[in-house]
Amino acid sequence: MLIKNCFSLGIIFTIMIMAVNLSASTIAMKVDSLLNQMTLKEKIGQLNQYSSTWQLTGPKPTQKGNEERYEDLTNGMVGSMLNVVTVDEIKRAQELVVENSRLGIPLLFGLDVIHGYKTMFPIPLAQAASWDMQAIEKSARIAAKEASASGITWTFSPMVDLTRDPRWGRIIECAGEDPYLGARFGKAMVRGYQGKDLSTDNTIAACTKHFAAYGAPEAGREYNRVSISNYDLYNIYLPPYKATIDEGVSTVMNAFNTLNGVPATGNQFLVNEILRGKWNFSGFILSDWATISELITHGVAKDMKQATKIAITGGTDVDMESSAYIDYLEELILEGEVDEELLDQAVRRILTVKFELGLFDDPYKYCSKEREKEQAYTEKNHKAALEMAKKSIVLLKNENDILPLSKEIERIAVVGPLAADKDAPLGNWRCQAKSNSAVSLLSAIKNSVSSKTKINYAKGCNLVKMDGDYQDYKPVQVNETDTTGIQQAVKAAQNSDVIIAAVGETALLSGEGRSRQNIDLPGVQKTLLQELKKTGKPLVVVLFNGRPLTINWTEQNASAIVEGWLAGSQSGNALASVLFGDYNPSGKLPVTFPRNVGQIPIYYNQLNTGRPKLDENTVFVSRYIDGPNTPLYPFGYGLSYTDFKYDNLKISDNRISEDQTLQVKVDVKNTGQRKGEEIVQLYIRDLIASYARPIKELKGFKKISLEPGQKETVKFYLDRDKLSFYNNQYEKICEPGQFEVMVGGNSVDLLKTSFKMVE
Ligand code: NOJ
Repeated sequence: MLIKNCFSLGIIFTIMIMAVNLSASTIAMKVDSLLNQMTLKEKIGQLNQYSSTWQLTGPKPTQKGNEERYEDLTNGMVGSMLNVVTVDEIKRAQELVVENSRLGIPLLFGLDVIHGYKTMFPIPLAQAASWDMQAIEKSARIAAKEASASGITWTFSPMVDLTRDPRWGRIIECAGEDPYLGARFGKAMVRGYQGKDLSTDNTIAACTKHFAAYGAPEAGREYNRVSISNYDLYNIYLPPYKATIDEGVSTVMNAFNTLNGVPATGNQFLVNEILRGKWNFSGFILSDWATISELITHGVAKDMKQATKIAITGGTDVDMESSAYIDYLEELILEGEVDEELLDQAVRRILTVKFELGLFDDPYKYCSKEREKEQAYTEKNHKAALEMAKKSIVLLKNENDILPLSKEIERIAVVGPLAADKDAPLGNWRCQAKSNSAVSLLSAIKNSVSSKTKINYAKGCNLVKMDGDYQDYKPVQVNETDTTGIQQAVKAAQNSDVIIAAVGETALLSGEGRSRQNIDLPGVQKTLLQELKKTGKPLVVVLFNGRPLTINWTEQNASAIVEGWLAGSQSGNALASVLFGDYNPSGKLPVTFPRNVGQIPIYYNQLNTGRPKLDENTVFVSRYIDGPNTPLYPFGYGLSYTDFKYDNLKISDNRISEDQTLQVKVDVKNTGQRKGEEIVQLYIRDLIASYARPIKELKGFKKISLEPGQKETVKFYLDRDKLSFYNNQYEKICEPGQFEVMVGGNSVDLLKTSFKMVE
């Protein structure tokens, strides 16, 4: 019976594979037949991408004027556009091309749909703090549904640039510092956007970016050089990108940075050797904004013609906003400097995605005002955004279980520059969300507490804010050093039983181009907290931030700290549900919080060094003389309103060979009074290897839910793949020897055992 079932399953599986191959080969035939009809100029046109301003009287002029761009569109000299939004404008642009150009090849419409389209989900870093891949996939799914209804066919997401540097503003967009978590996150996002079938009208093509290692800019300064060893590139930075390729992402964007001296755009090693060579990526690659022309600024090309040659031979298929290909590629091909076959391959890849999306059957299929109305910014989507936001919150401190607060509390001070802010939680890359559209903490608190509770609100101080919509980024200049409002906040605190202080960063302070030298609380917020502390009232700090902040004073002096990140449209409601105990927080940090910027880069999976720090008194060891090595909060850290006890760590064998799988078991018990979720984390250490290996490496995690008193045995498996690493030749090697296995609720408090890998 079993064999029979397996047999029929096998047949079904084979038929499924055949169906996929069949449609892939049908598409390939269609692509080839179209390619054969295209002139050299038309082929080059497919590689050209323009951005739009919001009104399509003509696209935004950068390298070229409006009229010229308009003409390019009607002449079939544009293959894709970015930043065109609304059904009407997308239809209009598509019409221009489909109705006027000789072959009527439809455009792709790309947009930075990073953490939601209209309904804002938490920033990606916050989503990663949930460690909940189903929820992350769902948030991407909803973003795709909303965006696709408005005509968007392609998102420039997921951003899987792993980073160890919280000074870098784009840390908000990634999953933090860990290759394993980053890989799982990237895969979930790709599944969410692309679904199972790109031709469905509510799925969109995804784009892995920025290839590669853009998250390691020197000194945390945006767009700065990246100099890292191949060892770190292969083992730390590349795995999240590779995971998205394995998941079938349609496109990849290259990056602004140089990698070990060579710009990532047109980088033969990254693209031809790794991405296409080792990973067999068959989708298309696009430049980042004007990165082809920036080859000149980098100093590796003398002019646009040379930049064009470097980019096309280095595997960049689409030119975003350099107008390089459209101006110079024809000449280069006619002169024999560039092989036309390179162009043909690029065109094939682009047309393939257009066919997969079904644009040749109906170029307007993604534009639907009805679907927009039905599916965007709905109650259902907000419910999902609220769930995601709750899961993203991390409880950093909770002295004497001061949280959760009672809803019957008599008097509560809600203070701080972010308490009533409806804009900051939307974060950067807010896509089509309206500014000031998030639920503020203050209004959510008002809705949560009893009618008898008196709320004393005071802003306390100012923070620089973003004005207008997402593209403008105009800072509203405020006096950030003004302390005169603090007195009112202190008064509010004095008249209350507890203080909730909302402090941190506005949306303008993180994101692209937002590196910070100092990651303390900006402005006079620390002074505000210090004055509040003097009232003697319990101080609950709620953080709004796109990156880890150095908050030592707060850690030492606040009664409780809730990491609320920039949690999207439903931020206030999510935070209130944590503060008043309707939701038991379960998030864990996807990134280390330093005590001091001088510790950066700081991360948990460090090497032991030859002289690790063992105690406070030894001088000639790897340490600072003016502060500890340890972080303020380690990777994987986060508290709950209940307690979890880890016990009975067992492994299936203490000797395994390379082809065997080790089972790891641990008992986790909820020893507290409330139901709670715990993220159980598995780490390993390869003790002796031909390369120095990290002292800990995350290799698995499971999120479990336990009633008070309930115990669960959590199982993990370690196989060759998880026990291997890359050598400097990019070969995955697994070496015999002793391994440690560690399991716990964060990267520091761990149970430990060990086994031996035998030859
Ligand atoms: C530049 C950013 O680096 C990239 O992530 C984004 O997709 C493009 N601009 C388009 O907006």
